Amino acid sequence: MDYAYPKGHVFYRKLERVYPLATHGDGIYLYDETGKRYIDGSGGALVVNIGHGRKEILHGMAEQMGRLGYVHGTQFTTRSIEEYAEALEKVLPEGLDKIYFLSGGSESIETAIKFARQYFWDSEQAQRWRVIARWHSYHGNTLGALSLTGRIGMRKPYIPLLLDFPHFLPPYCYRCPFNLSYPRCELECAKALEHLIRVEGPETISAVILEPIGGATIGALVPPEGYLSMIREICDRFGIFLIDDEVMTGMGRTGRWFAVEHWDIAPDIMVLGKGMSGGYFPLSAMITRSEFVERLKERTGGFVHGHTFSHHPVACAVGLAVLRFIEQRRLIEQCPGKGDYLLKRLEELKTFPFIGDVRGKGMMTAIEFVRDQKTKEPFPRSERFTERVIDLAFENGLVLYPGTGFVDGINGDMAMVGPPLIIEEYQIDEIIEILKKTFSKIPESGLNK
Ligand SMILES: Cc1ncc(COP(=O)(O)O)c(C=O)c1O
Repeated sequence: MDYAYPKGHVFYRKLERVYPLATHGDGIYLYDETGKRYIDGSGGALVVNIGHGRKEILHGMAEQMGRLGYVHGTQFTTRSIEEYAEALEKVLPEGLDKIYFLSGGSESIETAIKFARQYFWDSEQAQRWRVIARWHSYHGNTLGALSLTGRIGMRKPYIPLLLDFPHFLPPYCYRCPFNLSYPRCELECAKALEHLIRVEGPETISAVILEPIGGATIGALVPPEGYLSMIREICDRFGIFLIDDEVMTGMGRTGRWFAVEHWDIAPDIMVLGKGMSGGYFPLSAMITRSEFVERLKERTGGFVHGHTFSHHPVACAVGLAVLRFIEQRRLIEQCPGKGDYLLKRLEELKTFPFIGDVRGKGMMTAIEFVRDQKTKEPFPRSERFTERVIDLAFENGLVLYPGTGFVDGINGDMAMVGPPLIIEEYQIDEIIEILKKTFSKIPESGLNK
């Protein structure tokens, strides 16, 4: 393919990559300037929940932009901000009723850890500031968020800049870190959190943060039954906040508005991003309970935080239009059925010898690649298996989202399949056909040798 970019002054995210120029999108499809069609099989980075080219969103956004494009978050509010908050609160888990609007997932994670810190500062527990996260997690790339992120490769160059946040291992049943199996394991991986809290000093910990379903680093990792409620119970016992990072899983992606609802867990803080705007505008949020916000108001007088683009009126107009779209099209109601169909079809791919595991929930799924299906031996990182699969699929017109390094910090290969929720069954079949075509080329291209 005769791609022409980069050619100028854009500092692109991938310095080696030759970029096609995307011109437009329609539903689950993207098109480049040569007219080539791609299925957006991962909705970017599991962002595009409602599909591309939705005129309904354009109308909501343009209407707000035409009237008022910007006010500063310390000076004015707008109808779009108020109305979006009202509508969002109605679908949030009970008790989560104060919404701080921001622009990106990492920014909202920073906001959450600062909020937790200030809450304890204002509660005469100023020694509580450290947040416990999990290895092989993803919470963002800014320094606070990266200190939480358990993706070794991304942390490595920046270790001297990171905060002292402890980590524990995730409930990775396919390769149980404790060599046990569910349910006989009695959730040893969740109990490890209690041990870590005791070792680190409970009085120093403000919060535990986790993705309810592991995302960009480990690939659609659904926890076993009882895991999240045990984590919640441990947090309660030590008076520690539970921060629910739903940046990827939120807004219907897994078949409920929020993934914690599958297990009926009530977090103290929730973080949203990605699907809030479906990619149409930078938008995210940190959400908590009124009573916690009241504490800050009574003591310090406010939340010592804020950004130029917090509480953006146009972003909120987009968020509201996206939320209405999700409701009107009943996307969340349809998601579990479509998700089951997607998983069932992905399971068929296990006939390829390098497919180790297929997992996920709703429209958040992943395929883990292994060198040996029986022993689960991963490919050595030097083979760049994931990258090659992703490139081949891209050539075949299917966009997937890669993840590596989750087995031991270096090895581990997976690709996420997370198309827009509007996808139809025949389009899931199209994805499977392209995956089969891609996988069948793999031995020819010298992989798996
Ligand atoms: C669970 C989770 N949290 C946080 C982030 C960071 O969001 P952003 O890339 O918008 O900063 C991501 C991004 O992939 C994510 O998946």
